[in-house]
Amino acid sequence: MTKQAISLLTLALAFATTAAAAAPNPLPVVPLFEATTKLEPATTEDTPDALITRFADRARDRHAREAKFHSYDHYLSFYWEERTMAVEIVDRVAKGGKDITVNYTTLAPLGAPEFRAFFRGVNTVAEYHFNYSAPLIGSNRYTATLRHNVTEKRPLQPGDRIEMEISQFLKAPKNGRKNYYGTTVLYVVGKGIVPWEGRGELLDSFPLPEKAWLGGLTTLPYQYSAEPQHRFKQMAGNIAPVSAQPFMLGRRLHHTDFGNGSHSEKGNPAFDEQRGKLGPQFVAQSCVACHVNNGRALPPALGKPMYQTVVKVGADAKGTAHPNLGGALQPQSADGTPEAGASIASWQSIEGKYADGTPFTLRKLVYAFTGETPPHFSARLTPQLVGLGLLEAIDEADVLALAEANRKRADGVRGRAHIVKDEHGKARLGRFGYKAGQPSVRHQVAGALNSDMSVTTSVFPKLDDGTGSKPELSDTDLANLTRYISTLGVSARRDLDDADAQRGEQLFAKANCTACHTPGFTTSRHHPLAELRAQKVQPFTDLLLHDMGPGLADNLGEHDATGAEWRTPPLWSLGLTAGVSGGEAYLHDGRARTLEEAILWHGGEGEQAKEAFRAMPAAERAALVKFLKSL
Ligand code: HEC
Ligand code: HEC
Repeated sequence: MTKQAISLLTLALAFATTAAAAAPNPLPVVPLFEATTKLEPATTEDTPDALITRFADRARDRHAREAKFHSYDHYLSFYWEERTMAVEIVDRVAKGGKDITVNYTTLAPLGAPEFRAFFRGVNTVAEYHFNYSAPLIGSNRYTATLRHNVTEKRPLQPGDRIEMEISQFLKAPKNGRKNYYGTTVLYVVGKGIVPWEGRGELLDSFPLPEKAWLGGLTTLPYQYSAEPQHRFKQMAGNIAPVSAQPFMLGRRLHHTDFGNGSHSEKGNPAFDEQRGKLGPQFVAQSCVACHVNNGRALPPALGKPMYQTVVKVGADAKGTAHPNLGGALQPQSADGTPEAGASIASWQSIEGKYADGTPFTLRKLVYAFTGETPPHFSARLTPQLVGLGLLEAIDEADVLALAEANRKRADGVRGRAHIVKDEHGKARLGRFGYKAGQPSVRHQVAGALNSDMSVTTSVFPKLDDGTGSKPELSDTDLANLTRYISTLGVSARRDLDDADAQRGEQLFAKANCTACHTPGFTTSRHHPLAELRAQKVQPFTDLLLHDMGPGLADNLGEHDATGAEWRTPPLWSLGLTAGVSGGEAYLHDGRARTLEEAILWHGGEGEQAKEAFRAMPAAERAALVKFLKSL
């Protein structure tokens, strides 16, 4: 570059900076992502000759429709090694051409590069019209070209459904088994990869209507292998090639015991590098010990220690750290002398009646403490972990606009944004945790490492007891774990044609549940992760804090939130709770045994909506719950 060009460039940069500085940020928070955020490469590309779609896949044991094997949705041993691949679909039919090329790059050589397309399902649930041994065209790169609609015996045309499955039959794996299948993907010509449902006796794949895409294109296809416990562990349906390995490496950390380094699933070796980072004080030894199957936890039996509940504590209602206990109870310790502990002493029953006279019983938790009893505390049971990257990708301006509109509502709903500080002291929109106390997935994950397991990171280098300085977990590990959490796919909505569920959806709006459980957003175009950008999502939360009345209130605030204020929780995947967690428990402390009970606990700003539900005839209440279970 010439000297002149450099000085011109400097000038232009200086001008750009001045221009940016001149436009003041109109928001009371600093947005996480803006027009200047560095974006990862887009996963779709529209060229004059082709529509190109890129995504990643992982090796699987068996095929999608094989309920009898229970071996599709689980993860293989050594899943973080050699077991992901990048796929590229070059669709020329979309631009008037005649064929579609699928190129894929694996991490290690394949023995049998089997590529299958156009589902047929004769004799087996995994039989295809087009079966091909894909030739090698580069380093671990394979290719297959489709020239006909083999099912209908005619040229390809936009709108054609092409189901594909690419097997990653490893030639000589470093560790673990040799042969594996892949994900069953539905590609619609001229459109892209879409979440699918199986129709008819063969469960042939058809695109789900967009109403079912609760997580936009991250949405998973329906599940046909009998493994409900694995539903919350899946990669987003549109996961970008650059996310695949970080997802797997992050998953490994999620399943690692930071004490002895062991992995929670059999067949996987200990992660030696992570050994000995736990404690001295801690609540649990791994992320999955609390977030079992990435789902919510169930409350422990009476008198048993609470190792899946985080008990935040304080010296006063504002949340000032307790002089002896800090900010949270750590009921376990390396030397066997924990600072304190908590358990459920009893359940207190509260009787009530629906307007039609039907009685109901709610139950409230009564806690007992060992060691020191904190004067102020907030006990929170582990929540589910799907769709969090999408919640992070919702534009601050959209949430703040909802808060602004809440100020003028006539129905008593007064949601407000929780403005919190990040580790650099910047004002951010709080999104995560039951009181929206954490601004980003990364912050939340680093917080969990620190306060639940006493593992330090560069975000939180000091422990709850004030000690600690050097980060124990590297920034790369933290980034991988964050990406794993951010790209877990959301399940598709079910029972779309069920008349009761449809009626329930109308009643949900009529009872004003939507005042807080906001059905839809479009995520920001500025999120760095391509799979999370500009997605139409239906989380059923406004991410705002609401005063839910004395029934749900704790006596401990968090940052700017009072004991009575809670963030509206997302309702997606609610209906999968029993399958994932092996039982049901709702609300911040798991007190509600059913969805009806969860609704009946609503008070304060939610009182009117609760009363609308209480006044419904039994059939309408059942329809509303059916709708919630379809999510
Ligand atoms: C002791 C049990 C426990 C452990 C261990 C634990 N969590 Fe959590 N997790 C919780 C609880 C309880 C909350 C709600 C916290 C709050 O309200 O502030 C939560 C919240 C979260 C959230 C935010 C969810 C939301 O909807 O806002 C994420 C993300 C998360 N945890 C990830 C992790 C990861 C990753 C790890 C491991 C590094 C981990 N957690 C370890 C119990 C646990
Ligand atoms: C004023 C805002 C508001 C309104 C209106 C409202 N909710 Fe909620 N909802 C919340 C908040 C906040 C929570 C979390 C409370 C807690 O955990 O203590 C919640 C929790 C829930 C839960 C439990 C979710 C979980 O993950 O455990 C369900 C189910 C639910 N609401 C359904 C409904 C239905 C159905 C209606 C309408 C009849 C409704 N809500 C109306 C704010 C609201």
